[in-house]
Amino acid sequence: MYSEFSSSPTRPPAAEDFASYPASWYLFCESRQLKDKPFSQRILGRQLVAYRKASGQVAVMDARCAHLGADLGCGTIVGETLQCPFHNWRYGADGVCTSIPHAAEIPSFARLRTYPVAERHGSVFFFNGPEPLFPLPFILDADPADFVAGKTFRYVADCNWYMNSAHAFDTQHFAAVHDRRLLAPPSMDCPAPYSRRNSYHAEVIGHTVFDRILRVVAGRTVNITLTIWGGNMALITAAFDRVRSGFLMDMQPLENGQTLCQGIIYARRTRNLLRAFTPLNLSIRRLFTFGYLADEARRLRGTRYNPASLGPNDKDMIEYFQWVASLPQTAPTTINPEAKEDYDEETDRSFDVPVSCGSTSVIASAAAKG
Ligand code: FES
Ligand SMILES: [Fe+2]
Repeated sequence: MYSEFSSSPTRPPAAEDFASYPASWYLFCESRQLKDKPFSQRILGRQLVAYRKASGQVAVMDARCAHLGADLGCGTIVGETLQCPFHNWRYGADGVCTSIPHAAEIPSFARLRTYPVAERHGSVFFFNGPEPLFPLPFILDADPADFVAGKTFRYVADCNWYMNSAHAFDTQHFAAVHDRRLLAPPSMDCPAPYSRRNSYHAEVIGHTVFDRILRVVAGRTVNITLTIWGGNMALITAAFDRVRSGFLMDMQPLENGQTLCQGIIYARRTRNLLRAFTPLNLSIRRLFTFGYLADEARRLRGTRYNPASLGPNDKDMIEYFQWVASLPQTAPTTINPEAKEDYDEETDRSFDVPVSCGSTSVIASAAAKG
């Protein structure tokens, strides 16, 4: 274990201490995928469906019909409700069945679990718990209305979700993988509940085409902030001498232990003639960011969490693992007891873990578990 390396009491958590699917926000689909039909997919170990009600809001709920399990993604939107393609049971956005053809009454089991939804910049997000523990994250102290978003990029990282988000606190890899030489020790804090941030100042020292262009166009040094929310969602800002950028990275745990990474680039909304260049601006930023991250994913294939091999040099990462292992895991809202086929008891551990950001009790409880 860790004691082979150090007598420090800081111990990494056991792998079993991490949630399969942390309670957080996840990117579900693009808004344009919900034009006039529902959309369903398997995500976080269960089949979920999204549809846009006639009044305009989007609802997300379990996709398996409470009757015989038909996929509501193949159903029809009828006003505010979603109609099953099999025997035409209809569900409201609260998951409750509102009508059954030729039935005198609606059985109590005819209800589906629903999820909080947020729609922003043409993307639909849901929170996998009964109530959001925190608002859909954005760049701190910035108003999403002042920004436009680029087209989502995607890649699969060959490691689990907490290994992937731990990169933000893996100080050593900034130089080894990204050619960023730290100009001062990084600073770590928790700017809000359920968030943890690493801020550092670095020099771009790489020799790739991307880094050469960056130095000329943006500047030689950069202030970076990496803020992880809920363990799976990252907001990254980079302030170069002449250019500022920001993007969101949604890390979705896959059932095979890998992580689907979905990135959205932001650029400031302009109201003058420069507006015509916004799509080009977003495309260039997307190219650089995607290139930077996809290269990392290629080089870091097959990395695995192993608490026994973490040492003193990994202290920041270990503290991150302790924090993330202490976050609450998801719990169901309304659940149909007859339709538990996709329900994973392990994900239902609770919302009762008190997480006060950065508190020693959280760290202590994680350490005790490990
Ligand atoms: S399976 Fe949905 S109404 Fe029968
Ligand atoms: Fe990285």
